[in-house]
Amino acid sequence: MAPSSAPALEVERRAIHVSGFPREGRDFYATPSWVTEALLRHVRFRGPIWEPCCGDGAMSTVLASHGYQVISSDIADRGFGTPGTDFLACRDMPNECLGIVTNPPYGDTGSHKGQAKSSTAMLDFISHALALTASVQGQLALLVRLQWIAGSRAADVLSSGPFAATVILTRRIQWFDMGERTNTAQHHHAWVVFDHSHPVGSPPTLLYA
Ligand SMILES: C[S@@+](CC[C@H](N)C(=O)[O-])C[C@H]1O[C@@H](n2cnc3c(N)ncnc32)[C@H](O)[C@@H]1O
Repeated sequence: MAPSSAPALEVERRAIHVSGFPREGRDFYATPSWVTEALLRHVRFRGPIWEPCCGDGAMSTVLASHGYQVISSDIADRGFGTPGTDFLACRDMPNECLGIVTNPPYGDTGSHKGQAKSSTAMLDFISHALALTASVQGQLALLVRLQWIAGSRAADVLSSGPFAATVILTRRIQWFDMGERTNTAQHHHAWVVFDHSHPVGSPPTLLYA
């Protein structure tokens, strides 16, 4: 699981502001770079990565700085990646991508306007991401609240999928770019990592960062 050295892949930076999709405000919060760095200290990805809810590119930028080719998209236009791409409507992985890394938009603050903000929506998101990554025998890393892992529905998903590892963040995340709703790091978070090449029946690894 631990990376030796990340592959030196071509870094892709997508054009910005290419659609008329409006910028949204309160349904967006960027992930501090140390959170993605923590994942990459433990997990090596096998190829190009898709960040399908890229926001302003906070995660994508860290992934690219580690040598990964990154395809970035978002349902909204936040000035980074390809806007107007509803992840839940995507039926295939983008060209050559073998992994997905993101934080599902249903956890800490809002969701995109008009979307459900519930654990069911979160599970739908994960099921969809698992189906897409299964099609390429790929990997999936999702940032979730640590408490979410304890839920019975989460237990079903985690137990039935190719659950390879949990990377628990011992430091709490101070979210920013949330204006007056910026929180004060109340929750612990963890990366849940699925790998469709993880041997069936093998338990996931518990890691700390
Ligand atoms: C909490 S922000 C995270 C942004 C980025 N991943 C980061 O960590 O900095 C969630 C993002 O998911 C996007 N989003 C919400 N629903 C989406 C969907 N169905 N398809 C694609 N993007 C979506 C929002 O527009 C928002 O930019």
